Amino acid sequence: EMNTFISDLMAQMTLKEKIGQLTLLTSNWESTGPTMRDSYKEDIRSGRVGGIFNAYTAAYTAELQRLAVDETRLKIPLLFGYDVIHGHRTIFPISLGEAASWDLAAIEQAARLSAVEASAEGIHWTFSPMVDIARDPRWGRISEGAGEDVHLGSKIAAARVRGYQGDDLAATDTVVATAKHFAAYGAAQAGRDYHTVDISERTLRDVYLPPFKAAVDAGVGSFMTSFNEVDGIPASGSRYLLTDILRDQWGFDGFVVTDYTSINEMVPHGYSKDLKQSGEQALNAGVDMDMQGAVYMDHLAQSVSEGKVDQAAIDRAVRRILEMKYRLGLFEAPYRYSNVERQEATIYRPDILEAARDVARKSMVLLKNEGGALPLASTAQSIAVIGPLADSKEDMIGSWSAAGDRSTRPVTILQGIRERAASGVNIGYAKGASYAYGDAGKDDGFAEALALAQKSDVIIAAMGEKWDMTGEAASRTSLDLPGNQQALLERLVATGKPVILVMLSGRPNSIGWADENVPAILHAWYPGTMGGHAVADVLFGDYNPSGKLPVTFPRNVGQVPIHYDMKNTGRPIELGADNAKYVSRYLNTPNTPLYRFGHGLSYTSFGYSPATLSTASMTAGGSLTASATITNTGKVAGEEVVQLYVRDLVGSVTRPVQELKGFEKVTLAPGESRTVTFTLRPEDLAFTRADMSHGWEPGEFQLWIAPVSGAAASVPVGFTITE
Ligand code: IFM
Repeated sequence: EMNTFISDLMAQMTLKEKIGQLTLLTSNWESTGPTMRDSYKEDIRSGRVGGIFNAYTAAYTAELQRLAVDETRLKIPLLFGYDVIHGHRTIFPISLGEAASWDLAAIEQAARLSAVEASAEGIHWTFSPMVDIARDPRWGRISEGAGEDVHLGSKIAAARVRGYQGDDLAATDTVVATAKHFAAYGAAQAGRDYHTVDISERTLRDVYLPPFKAAVDAGVGSFMTSFNEVDGIPASGSRYLLTDILRDQWGFDGFVVTDYTSINEMVPHGYSKDLKQSGEQALNAGVDMDMQGAVYMDHLAQSVSEGKVDQAAIDRAVRRILEMKYRLGLFEAPYRYSNVERQEATIYRPDILEAARDVARKSMVLLKNEGGALPLASTAQSIAVIGPLADSKEDMIGSWSAAGDRSTRPVTILQGIRERAASGVNIGYAKGASYAYGDAGKDDGFAEALALAQKSDVIIAAMGEKWDMTGEAASRTSLDLPGNQQALLERLVATGKPVILVMLSGRPNSIGWADENVPAILHAWYPGTMGGHAVADVLFGDYNPSGKLPVTFPRNVGQVPIHYDMKNTGRPIELGADNAKYVSRYLNTPNTPLYRFGHGLSYTSFGYSPATLSTASMTAGGSLTASATITNTGKVAGEEVVQLYVRDLVGSVTRPVQELKGFEKVTLAPGESRTVTFTLRPEDLAFTRADMSHGWEPGEFQLWIAPVSGAAASVPVGFTITE
């Protein structure tokens, strides 16, 4: 039925109208809300535009939809896209923070509720999830993904797609998801945004592509190309990526949109001599929709008349976009998502705010907690809350909160602590320091902060990075605390009062000094609208922290790239021989990171039994199970992320020292034990072999069930795979 409907419609469309369906233009924004330039309104009326992004609110999307439905020749409804990245109005923690929860149900629910809010404001389609693997904390967009790991990243990609799209795209509270940015955007040289990507085909296939494949398998409706080149070809002109892999190998049947003007950017890349050629290269590669570049709009018709682009290729792209509009139910009821009453009943709904608080506290990672410095003792009669992030609303939110309120609703850390602390407890506040780069040598606010610190029982230092130091076009060459925060932190510690460092940041920071000198460190990411309450929940022990790092924290920027699944090299450091010469190491910094991938503490402690296997050898078509018993050996209930790692000892190409192959988050009462069991099949150990085929190889393997990555975290057990 859908096919006939679309064929009939396409039979009536002119080439210009078809190209219009391939064109996505942005709405503008003024303080009053989204607006539209008159020329774009005219483009809608004349059928030259098929989709609009950055337009929202039920009333405004309906107003624009009316132009398409009432004033165009064929009445084809518009598709409304938007960057709903970590929440729409209610902001959840940044994506990297959510990933630190390792809680797939919570992550899926965050996406689900974001879709509920966004769709209530007329939005059909989100430019999320970003599934780019990122192993370079200099890159600001590391904050937008799920971290460094292929397995965790793939599971989270699928969870987010399910959350946004639900079971039924036609339901009015679901939105189409976008897997972005295809591909390898996170591998930019030196962590500089938009920079060249030059990685091996094997690394592309084994590290960067799997989360995209997981999104396809979860039924994702659209893909966004990336700005970067891969092996000399800009992604938006890569037939290899967009057709050979995405369509032919993976069978993706949704549509592909560019990232912003990335078709145009193929000219400065040096891949296209002019815009007309870049449009031809993009369409022929497999780009269906041109975001904001207006290259298709301006040049594609001429390219068809010159025979540079086949009419059939255009028809294929148009059909994919019309199919999506059909699946959303827009032909039947173009205004079905733009419902003012639903909008009013939905945005900032109490249960959505409560869910944001819950995900935020689940995301936080207790990096260090010496001598039980946390949770805060109930005897503390005065608390000093100090730092540039202690009472800053916008810094609770982080980057990409397109429609989210960053100036009134966000609950700051100071506010959260004030509301939670028992009456009679004295809460003092001083900003104390600055995170601005230029303020590094200043000490303007120190005296006030130190005076407050001196008269308090405990100091909560809320430090980190300003919200816009991560995100797009926010790369850094240093991972240190910016501004004069480090100097203030040292002065606070020198007072001899206990200091709790609460870090707000969208990337791993090199906080080695703090690790050595501050008793407790809680990494809170940018925790969102309810962030201050969530931080207070953890500080006061109302919630026992359970997050684990989805990315390695280096000791210093010179160790980058550093991730847990590196290769052993031919000259690894022997155990205990840390100062050996002619082995793979640095003279001035150990090879080990500051905090490992998978690291995260709890207010309780967990014991792990040795791992046991159902069988020590498996064959093709078979499987084995690996189990360990985890016990809560402490005094309070807690959650633990149990991690399964494997090492393939010898391969036709060298294999990483460890790879995550499974994880499970368990909740245990004090004294309670639970046996966690993972199933492994040979296919789970597949990789790109020497001959570039994908599959497993027989041989010997090691397996760990552990609380953190690293070969020393538990004793491995061996198994084999035979043919
Ligand atoms: O979705 C984003 C993308 O991640 C970066 N460039 C702009 C797009 C649309 O706003």
